[in-house]
Amino acid sequence: MEDVLILAIESSCDETAAAVVRNGREVLSNVIASQIALHTQFGGVVPEIASRKHIEQINPVITSALEEARISLSQITAVGVTYGPGLVGALLVGVAEAKAIAYGAKKPLVGVHHIEGHVAANFITKYPGQNALTPDRICQAELEPPFVCLIVSGGHTHLVVVKDYGEFEIIGKTRDDAAGEAFDKVARAVGLGYPGGPKIDQAARQGNPHAVEFPRAKVEGAPYDFSFSGLKSAVLNYINHAKMTGQEICVPDLAASFQNAVVEALVSRAVLAAEEYGYDKLAIAGGVASNSALREAMARSCREHGLNFYYPSPVFCTDNAAMIGAAAYYEYQKGVRHGWDLNAIPNLKLGER
Ligand code: KG4
Ligand code: ZN
Repeated sequence: MEDVLILAIESSCDETAAAVVRNGREVLSNVIASQIALHTQFGGVVPEIASRKHIEQINPVITSALEEARISLSQITAVGVTYGPGLVGALLVGVAEAKAIAYGAKKPLVGVHHIEGHVAANFITKYPGQNALTPDRICQAELEPPFVCLIVSGGHTHLVVVKDYGEFEIIGKTRDDAAGEAFDKVARAVGLGYPGGPKIDQAARQGNPHAVEFPRAKVEGAPYDFSFSGLKSAVLNYINHAKMTGQEICVPDLAASFQNAVVEALVSRAVLAAEEYGYDKLAIAGGVASNSALREAMARSCREHGLNFYYPSPVFCTDNAAMIGAAAYYEYQKGVRHGWDLNAIPNLKLGER
């Protein structure tokens, strides 16, 4: 069978990214222009600045992705692009670019749901351009649906059954903050800056996860739902109380204790879901899936419960275009083609096309 080569584009938030992916599993190139440094001075993503930066970066990023893969546009099978959810002005840059390239090169256009992309990062098994960020798993066993997936990013916290490629049953979600959002807010409160997740992860390595016992919220009658706003408030109260009474805060201990509470909530529900729904494969996806404590705790718990644990390399957990190329491949194989009227949908629901 002929190879299917996807040129994939991602611009839903603060990374301008392009990649070339072969047959949904092999990443030939993965180029990411991060805007993090630019947004750090504002303590978060500024949508207008993000859009403007995407416009500047998108052409060079795509050119690099094609060059790195040694592929010309004429050899590409289809163009895949994230069209939601995300910041509308940011998404629009990628969508307009993908349409222009696909139209000009006479290639089919495949729109991809950003979160479906995060899940599809688990299908990536080969990345010949190995770099320092992808050390731990270049050739893992190939993951195929059905499986349970815990999706934890800056905007989403979902537990889903992946019934088939691109087919999801949502069995749990957050009632308030997303896991990544909680990391970012707590990091800001303790002065670690933006983006908070990696900073907390780092600080927690020197801390005691049992130094402060923060509450573990359960959602009554919904065993697979999450709630992080109570935990976030407890951390903020702890900080305020310490400030008022003149006590010094041990940031590593606080980071480790907060992280431990989040990780426990995530792991316990994900493992319970896999067991109760009768699947022996459990995967994680999204920016928070690169958290070292989550990866370790998940691996341990899966081992104890006889589950096979799947996780993308850290570089494919946070926003990237390789994951969009992996998802676009399966959409393409199903016959999904989008028209020239494809638009950015900032609140696109999971499973919608
Ligand atoms: O998936 P992602 O790159 O973008 C969204 O689609 O939201 O996720 C970004 C989120 C941010 O909240 C960031 O703080 C969090 O993922 N994150 C982490 C880590 N790396 C990124 N959270 C915890 N530990 C990390 N190592
Ligand atoms: Zn994302």
